[in-house]
Amino acid sequence: MSESKRTIELTIDGRKTSVPEGSTLLQACQGLAIDVPTFCWAENLTPVNVCRICVVELEGARTLVPACSRKAEAGMVVQTESERVKLSRKLVLELLGSSVDMSLASEFQALATKYDAHPERFGPRAPRAAPGEREAARAGHHYAEDGEHAANVAQPKKVDNELFVRDYAKCMLCYKCVEACGTDAQNTFAIAVAGRGFDARIATELEAPLPDSACVFCGNCVGVCPTGALMFKAESDVREKGEWDESRQTVTDTICPYCGVGCQLTLRVQANQILRVTSPADHSVTSGHLCIKGRFGWGFVQGKKP
Ligand code: SF4
Ligand code: SF4
Ligand code: FES
Repeated sequence: MSESKRTIELTIDGRKTSVPEGSTLLQACQGLAIDVPTFCWAENLTPVNVCRICVVELEGARTLVPACSRKAEAGMVVQTESERVKLSRKLVLELLGSSVDMSLASEFQALATKYDAHPERFGPRAPRAAPGEREAARAGHHYAEDGEHAANVAQPKKVDNELFVRDYAKCMLCYKCVEACGTDAQNTFAIAVAGRGFDARIATELEAPLPDSACVFCGNCVGVCPTGALMFKAESDVREKGEWDESRQTVTDTICPYCGVGCQLTLRVQANQILRVTSPADHSVTSGHLCIKGRFGWGFVQGKKP
């Protein structure tokens, strides 16, 4: 017989609430329908606490605390939209917006407006890195900036296979892909964070092209990426041609035809072309994760080899 959990009572934005012991402040906020922004947190991944957009103010604490991973404790008094919280979120958004291409991150755009973020105040962007330049940076070495440009992670796209592309100019280093490739879903460990400081980046072992790496092309990293840094090749090709048009797209739920597990697939289709395949994060069978067949093996629908 399982023991029932103790209940924790706390106050959030002046409202008293109670949550089961072990709940995070984010879960307590969600229970009160208080919106706390997140970038690196996802319901189907372990929190890694790296983006700090979810910080809230905890009475008596010296620093702001990350709501996604800080556990609720009895008697806590929390403010989710204090001046300090708003200023902190604004700076996080400005630093991200000045250094990463967030043009496809709709949640980021909405938050930048809400918190009045102005990434452009750091100056014009530095030129794009040459192919291989960021990968060649020496860990721990600090390069002098010219003082005139905002440092950023602009770099060429990595297109080394027919299934998905990696555009790390759009990578906010949220670690979600690493989590999905690792113990949270795939247990393949094909990618990890390499480098240090501003040179930190998502990399395969020894920077090998994906087909030469441990990658099994499940696409679970693509499924969790919040910025479009990882993207289906089919979607990327349509976007590059300037033909991406959500008003002409349909989104349809179906069941994977390959095996008896019965994973739910969500297909985004434009002009009879499947451009993206995902699975709902709260689905009891998949938890949002798929294998290569369900994720990418639909070429036969369009008369192509899988
Ligand atoms: S496709 Fe799967 S195995 Fe390959 S890097 Fe992404 S999560 Fe890892
Ligand atoms: S590639 Fe996407 S999921 Fe991976 S760290 Fe970058 S933004 Fe996050
Ligand atoms: S969402 Fe909490 S630290 Fe990123």
